[in-house]
Amino acid sequence: MDTTMTRLDSPTAIELDERHNAHNYHPLPVVLSRAEGIYMWSPEGTRYIDCLSAYSAVNQGHCHPRIVKALTDQASRLTLTSRAFFSDILGEYCRYITEYFGYDRVLPMNTGVEGGETACKLARRWGYLHKHVPDNQARIVFVEGNFWGRTLAAISTSTDPVCHDGFGPYMPGFDVIPYDDLQALDKALSNPHVAGFMFEPIQGEAGVMVPKDGYLKGVRDLCTKHKVLMIADEIQTGLCRTGKMLCCDHENVRPDILILGKALSGGVLPVSAVLSSDEVILGIKPGEHGSTYGGNPLACAVAMEALQVLKDENLADNAEKMGQIFRQGLRSLSYPWIAQVRGKGLLNAVEIDHDAGVHAWDVCLALKENGLLAKPTHDCIIRLAPPLVANEAQINEMLAIIHKTFEDINVLGGRLATQPLGGDD
Ligand SMILES: Cc1ncc(COP(=O)(O)O)c(C=O)c1O
Repeated sequence: MDTTMTRLDSPTAIELDERHNAHNYHPLPVVLSRAEGIYMWSPEGTRYIDCLSAYSAVNQGHCHPRIVKALTDQASRLTLTSRAFFSDILGEYCRYITEYFGYDRVLPMNTGVEGGETACKLARRWGYLHKHVPDNQARIVFVEGNFWGRTLAAISTSTDPVCHDGFGPYMPGFDVIPYDDLQALDKALSNPHVAGFMFEPIQGEAGVMVPKDGYLKGVRDLCTKHKVLMIADEIQTGLCRTGKMLCCDHENVRPDILILGKALSGGVLPVSAVLSSDEVILGIKPGEHGSTYGGNPLACAVAMEALQVLKDENLADNAEKMGQIFRQGLRSLSYPWIAQVRGKGLLNAVEIDHDAGVHAWDVCLALKENGLLAKPTHDCIIRLAPPLVANEAQINEMLAIIHKTFEDINVLGGRLATQPLGGDD
């Protein structure tokens, strides 16, 4: 089959997907065939503004020319060696990313959830080697509402019944405490078997839950006090999304283990990384962990360019400035069914009053009709996270669409029919 020639119209694309694909997602009924910057187009040529950025994987904007060039240049030279051999780019990438973030070493993986799994293994091993935790008794503490993927380890820590229920037995060794609760954390970390505390500095999938000021600093202090590894999952919050290179930078704290993914490749291919000290990373010996594609030459070339673009285009500053304008604009829309607008940088959410009879899914359908793509997270939260390359005029264009849509909903009396909520992320 010549795939370059195969371009389906929207109804056919949806029909084939529904017929032959697993039903583990419930996408909005929109088909996309091309994208550039903040815009995406359907096969029929309808233009949309992307306010999801593939769950923050496309921070640098769709099909960024420098990232695409790095991809195609490397793709025509060398794509995969496996880790049975060295490549002429992996060492360079490891030096680049460790210097970029100021860590001793990196362990390269592919997807975000693999990054989380890797961090858990590193923490357990460190607990046995450096905290003298008795064999097979290491614990890792998580918080309610966490999301780091859907492997068996990840769902074993999940408090979301959709992710969790019906897939047991679950993996032992995890404790789950309330989010944004330093007292609960202090208590949980006082168990001498705890090796790590893994958390998102802002919870993305939970609905852009921003903790109180001082939480990140408090986490750092408590991890140090109890000799527990602070593991920051910055897969969604990192890489300029919240207005700083890392969300932890807002409180000037440095995690012991940093997990990155998503925008590490600018949306071009799955690339994740776990960064830490010699002490932590060298706990794992040859054969004890790895991945055929982890650290592949294509990923190395793309990740270096994607990281360089973040700096060269000042995307942290832009996310901060545009985020202020965006939130101000959203907050100026006062409808009785909007409960809250929250966020940091360009990771934002509008929460709908639970009793208002307005469903986030319907609002997203209406936004789509008006040319803006966003996806609900849970029943009543709409995440708004455009690519970080958006300029002020484009932010205003988004606000105008959101305003018009919300106005229409208001005219309808805020009552829209209930629709099933699909799998997110
Ligand atoms: C904070 C966080 N961690 C981990 C993941 C998992 O990443 P992936 O889907 O690439 O495995 C996600 C995905 O949304 C995420 O938001």
